[in-house]
Amino acid sequence: MKRYCIAANWKMNKTIPETRDFLRAFLPLVKDIKDRDVVISPPFTALSAAADALKGSGVKLSAQDVFWEEKGAYTGEVSPAMILDAGCSHVIVGHSERRQYFSEDDVIVNRKVKAARKAGLEVIFCVGESLEEREAGRTFDIIKRQVETGLAEVGPENLVVAYEPIWAIGTGRTATVEQAQEVHAFIKKVLGILYGNKAESLRIIYGGSVTTENVDNLMACEDVSGALVGGASLKAESFARIVSFK
Ligand code: 13P
Repeated sequence: MKRYCIAANWKMNKTIPETRDFLRAFLPLVKDIKDRDVVISPPFTALSAAADALKGSGVKLSAQDVFWEEKGAYTGEVSPAMILDAGCSHVIVGHSERRQYFSEDDVIVNRKVKAARKAGLEVIFCVGESLEEREAGRTFDIIKRQVETGLAEVGPENLVVAYEPIWAIGTGRTATVEQAQEVHAFIKKVLGILYGNKAESLRIIYGGSVTTENVDNLMACEDVSGALVGGASLKAESFARIVSFK
């Protein structure tokens, strides 16, 4: 049976007190859930406070980004060791908002994945096509390029791949189960070429307007092994319901 991974990506939301309030409400709601991985990704400033609040809960902590160098004159950047030091086991790399607003290309994403993995972090590696690319029939080409370049010289250990169609992020326009399954199956095939039978245990999770209403159907797809949730992860009750999908 697959072990699902349900991850919250808070993006640029929540102060330290708001993070503590969320966890005070959220943790009791999910305390009996042991058969799936639950991850939360607060902003950098709230990681330490979240790590303290999560102690003993089994819920894992992720950063939303990382730099590839170990230390030095890189104003504003945060290294893999610093993220570990703040209590994270995971990091999100290659989110479309990083690609879109901060000009991260596949080569940069690959450097980040390699550095994070070398430091011992589990990587949630994001890929996804824009609406324009989908409408031009280029979805598979884009995804293939993102996976092959982003994961170049990266083994299959400690890796979760997140498929997040850009047109579904924050738009309320979720991929249909057929659209999600089609791309997940394709990603599985590309990973199979990269990793052989080691790819079989890799989880491919879906992100893009996941809500309490659509999560059950999306999680029922054969090749969907979890969710990466933005907006609907900001409220404790709604994220707890998503984590508890049936
Ligand atoms: P929404 O769930 O708000 O669409 O965001 C998805 C996302 O980008 C998660 O990383």
